[in-house]
Amino acid sequence: VLQNRNEEIVLVKNDIVNDENKVQNVVKDIRKDITTTKDNIKGKEKSISKKVKKHELNTIENKEKEKKPLLEHKTVHIEVKRDPKVQVARLKLPILGEEQRIMELVNENEFLIVAGETGSGKTTQLPQFLYEAGYAEHKMIAVTEPRRVATVAMAARVGHELALSSKEVSYLMRFEGNVTKDTKIKFMTDGVLLKEIQSDFLLSKYSVVIIDEAHERSVYTDILLGLLSRIVPLRRKRGNPLRLIIMSATLRIEDFTENTRLFKEPPPVIKIDSRQYPVTIHFNKHTYSDYLKEAFRKTVKIHTRLPEGGILIFVTGQQEVKYLVRKLKASFPYRKDVDYSKLITKTKPINEADAALDSEPDDIDSDDDEVEKEMKRAKKARRKAKQKIKTLPKINLDDYDMPDDDGQADLVDNDDESEGHLSDSDAEEDTLTPTIKSCRQPLWVLPLYSMLSSSKQAKVFAPPPVGARLCVVSTDVAETSLTIPAIKYVVDSGKKKMRVYDHVTGASAWRIVWTSQASAGQRAGRAGRVGAGHAYRLYSSAVFQHDCPPHHPPDLCRRPVDDLVLAMKCMGIDKVVNFPFPTAPDRMQLRLAEKRLETLGILEKPEVKKKKVDDDDMLKVTPLGKAVSAFPLLPRYGKMLALSHQQNLLSYTIALVSALTVPEVMSGKPDSWPATGHTLLLGDPGVLLRAVGAAEYAYVKGEEELFCAKYGIREKAIKEIRKLRKQLTSEINLSVAGVDVTIDPEMKPPNDNQARLLRQLVLSGLGDQVGRKIGLDEVKEGEDKRKFKYAYHCGELEEPVHLHSESILRKTIPEWVVYQELYETGAEERRKMVMRNVTAIEPEWLPVYVPQLCNLGEPLSDPEPRYDEKSGRVKCHFKGTFGKSGWELPTVEID
Ligand code: CDP
Ligand code: MG
Repeated sequence: VLQNRNEEIVLVKNDIVNDENKVQNVVKDIRKDITTTKDNIKGKEKSISKKVKKHELNTIENKEKEKKPLLEHKTVHIEVKRDPKVQVARLKLPILGEEQRIMELVNENEFLIVAGETGSGKTTQLPQFLYEAGYAEHKMIAVTEPRRVATVAMAARVGHELALSSKEVSYLMRFEGNVTKDTKIKFMTDGVLLKEIQSDFLLSKYSVVIIDEAHERSVYTDILLGLLSRIVPLRRKRGNPLRLIIMSATLRIEDFTENTRLFKEPPPVIKIDSRQYPVTIHFNKHTYSDYLKEAFRKTVKIHTRLPEGGILIFVTGQQEVKYLVRKLKASFPYRKDVDYSKLITKTKPINEADAALDSEPDDIDSDDDEVEKEMKRAKKARRKAKQKIKTLPKINLDDYDMPDDDGQADLVDNDDESEGHLSDSDAEEDTLTPTIKSCRQPLWVLPLYSMLSSSKQAKVFAPPPVGARLCVVSTDVAETSLTIPAIKYVVDSGKKKMRVYDHVTGASAWRIVWTSQASAGQRAGRAGRVGAGHAYRLYSSAVFQHDCPPHHPPDLCRRPVDDLVLAMKCMGIDKVVNFPFPTAPDRMQLRLAEKRLETLGILEKPEVKKKKVDDDDMLKVTPLGKAVSAFPLLPRYGKMLALSHQQNLLSYTIALVSALTVPEVMSGKPDSWPATGHTLLLGDPGVLLRAVGAAEYAYVKGEEELFCAKYGIREKAIKEIRKLRKQLTSEINLSVAGVDVTIDPEMKPPNDNQARLLRQLVLSGLGDQVGRKIGLDEVKEGEDKRKFKYAYHCGELEEPVHLHSESILRKTIPEWVVYQELYETGAEERRKMVMRNVTAIEPEWLPVYVPQLCNLGEPLSDPEPRYDEKSGRVKCHFKGTFGKSGWELPTVEID
């Protein structure tokens, strides 16, 4: 158009150059033409985009149409012949009222979340609903549990309720199980299902997977949820749908429901409303450090003063459970030859003042006067009761039948101790010795913890013998995993064992910590299942408010990620950073871990010719990495073990790795150690190794305590190292074919050659942490040269790093070192970086043990490459540099 008009203008110009008006008109016409052309284009664009949209909608609709019929489940009704007694008990469970609603949602959806109070019947009933609706007809129903104890107990219970054998309702966990080809419902630990995914990614054996106790947020459960969120849509695409049911106590379910990483659309949630009777919470006035003693005292008081009703005591571990069980049994024994039925006192309503015992009522904000009055009333009641005190009858231990036989032998030892407990705080006015009358009522004391045999576990579900009061001493297993019937009183130590990780060594230790407020609520709730109950917290309300966190973060976010990344890569999960974790660990940490593992030769970029090789996500496990992943250690230590088995140094390396992964072994000055040749050769780890050997020798002679005190060695650390050595030794003997290591307690010092190999192994694991002595010529003008006596360059760090003041290498100050840890010390001007646990290395070793960080360039032509007959390889000379800072390496001859 413009061109045409142009020509016109030229014509016009030529013809009537002076006619301004005509020119103006032509310009107007041109403008008009341009706007109409623009409008035309816009109109075309609109109609095209409309068409595209319509097409997109059509495809989506088609897809929707495709998926709907695939989800259908033909409900068949499988006949079950339940014992009438079972049926009566079942009908009382809150979840039974929801059966129809749950099954409708299961049939119509692939994802479902079932949240309900502990004891509402989720674990025992839901698998039965599914079984009856035919979900076990062609494929199995899988139920995962984070705890072994629940895996066995629940399989047994569901089998019993369905009147099926263990062949049909079975369980499987590491080292144990009873699954058969006829298994319909399979209870398993979450780790087992994770292993199955490695060999059958689509889980084709199952029609439904139930992830139970999802609120526990175990590492395996979290990874399972991430994987299943992807497996389920895949199965639908194959026309073979898999359903995922997430079951959880009513704790923080928004971590699942509002999780867009896991689910594109929020899955339906069913909340089971269960009847929960009110539970009065009593805090202690004081928080005693000896919570076991306090738990014992409180239980004695409840048993001797308060009406019928089971007692559930929460402590932290197996040892504590056993200890309390022994003491309580000894104090209130159960005799087989006595008819206790006459003893039963009519259940009188509980007197609230009595119920307070010596605790504070829960209502911390309430009027102080009220609290005061309450206390006074309680005191008065106690004084009254005290007047009835008579002495304890003499007990002939042979006459008593204990609820179970463990601890029988210890009974005599503990007897005086337990009586002592009753009287040792007699000075305090509120301690009671039980009256004869109440003392005669025995306590039926049962232990409950994860490692307890299943037959003994089962006892907690049976009613106690007539006349005896049920008392279960449990770890946090009874918090949500198992519901014990007829509990009215809960005694809560407020403590739990939690795995704590050392982020440098990866060492994990069980620490006793305050429970979360959420856990405290769960524990208290156990007292309100059958009627109004009471929960006694053996700590003050101030502790609850200030020391108990609202929740503990999930396991996965508390642990170091190096071994997690390796474990996931071994499972074939390459894009660790993009993995849909329910709560994601720090992305940066995941990336750094991948980089570290690559430097250590545990991961590598695959040799693909495609463009994507630069992508970190594609890092794959090397054969060395596979071997490393077999060890329950951070990969850098696993690597030392994996390599040492080729060098025949295993027993030394096991001791060394054990010593390195236990924090703070030496607290004194190793100067008190005579520095012999080999300790010097080996550096700080050599000192550690020697300390372990010598302490072990002292232990055999029964002088461990003395020895440790004398040389400033932490005795507990030595015990931990001993345990770790044993564990690693048996693990290696089991898993590495043809290896049979024994622990040599005395551990002779390694000879020079062994010491050299050990240093190389240390380098192989710590190769990303190399330091090079700062030369005096590198010190800047005007700086005090003396300050640089023990100073090193480390990696890309600008500032100098110093040898630890207690490092044995201060005697020799070697040119090249590797260190276990860098840390900052001192305040402000005196602040400096220090390396701990330092080993001297030779720079020639770097191209062999840390090739990833060496830049060797082309082989030298002088001297010429040569063929080595012994190894059958061609050896070349290289002159290269190390690391990003380009530290010069000596000329090396390598393959
Ligand atoms: O999973 P959830 O906590 O919702 O409840 P459950 O474990 O299915 O327990 C439902 C009921 O079955 C509880 O009242 C338990 O005490 C009872 N039960 C039992 O009597 N015997 C067993 N071996 C297991 C559970
Ligand atoms: Mg359950």
